[in-house]
Amino acid sequence: MAILLTGGAGYIGSHTYVELVQAGYDAVIVDNFYNSCPDVIERLKAITGKPVTYYDVDVCDRKALEKVFLNHTFDAVIHFAGYKAVGESVAKPLAYYRNNLDSTFALCDAMQAHGVSRFVFSSSATVYGLAETVPLTETMPTGCTNPYGWTKYMIEQVLRDIAVAHPDWAVALLRYFNPIGAHESGTIGEDPVGLPNNLMPFITQVASGKLAKLRVFGNDYDTPDGTGVRDYIHVVDLARGHVAACRYLLSHTGCEVFNLGTGLGVSVLELIHTFERVNNIPIPFDVVERRPGDIATCYADASKAKTVLDWEASLTLEDMCRDSWRWQSQNPKGYRA
Ligand code: WQD
Repeated sequence: MAILLTGGAGYIGSHTYVELVQAGYDAVIVDNFYNSCPDVIERLKAITGKPVTYYDVDVCDRKALEKVFLNHTFDAVIHFAGYKAVGESVAKPLAYYRNNLDSTFALCDAMQAHGVSRFVFSSSATVYGLAETVPLTETMPTGCTNPYGWTKYMIEQVLRDIAVAHPDWAVALLRYFNPIGAHESGTIGEDPVGLPNNLMPFITQVASGKLAKLRVFGNDYDTPDGTGVRDYIHVVDLARGHVAACRYLLSHTGCEVFNLGTGLGVSVLELIHTFERVNNIPIPFDVVERRPGDIATCYADASKAKTVLDWEASLTLEDMCRDSWRWQSQNPKGYRA
């Protein structure tokens, strides 16, 4: 079984690569290293003990993508490649729509030209927008609050319509909640470019001394301790969800949506205190104003993935905090050392 991973050198793509290889699949990476580092390739080779087949290619480059498909017979594609910063998408909407949609169109065209009909898509809980009801189920209304989210929403619809027009296609839309953590080896992990947007990389950079203090964006939400509640899922659990989705697509057609979360809501303060306890490192913070666009509470009903994919998250918040810190402490400057 040969699987193509677009954006396979990225945070979630690289962890998925490891789990696929360890599950016995052959995996091929296509990445233009815009949001990732070539050093990841060597580290994946070290973790898996096998050579890594990869192409330094932009998925929007149709000629280069065609050469990849001529070199391999893929059984499925996992599409990670895409711009992913919510705030940046508000400032640069055209770049986000062009890159995220054009890359998907180019990939679907190459798949159709080469008879590849299994597609796992890296979607996001962000498509639920300002959902008032939790836990979130896959049948709940969707609607986005930023261009990044709309690209995910639109790509889901494109793939849903392709699956209707081509009954031989099998599509899994995986809606991630909040991936954090790192591989237990500490050799691959989340390596944000510049100042981290997300909570856990900010915490680990405060823990390492790279940043002085964390800002907690509001403590006046309607939550148990007033801070934002999210569904944090270990990136290795998330990666294993992709392996389960590939296995499912081998024996099913049509398009299905799956929430990949733990089903547990954790507040900002709970995450901070768990990190401090597990790693015995104080995390100084100030409570400041809410961040525009944030919602109070977001966590998954992950029962469909358990029932249909026979997958559920098993790693704990402690594992996430321990593994995040191991990656950060072993790689103070990320991959860009
Ligand atoms: C989590 C909580 C913040 C930073 C984002 C994207 C979403 C998805 C996952 C791609 C919130 C609080 C954060 C900080 C803080 N990505 N926070 N101080 O916003 O839930 O989701 O990442 O699909 O699309 O929107 O994640 O980690 O930014 O925030 O207090 O410095 O931590 O207010 O409550 P978010 P996050």
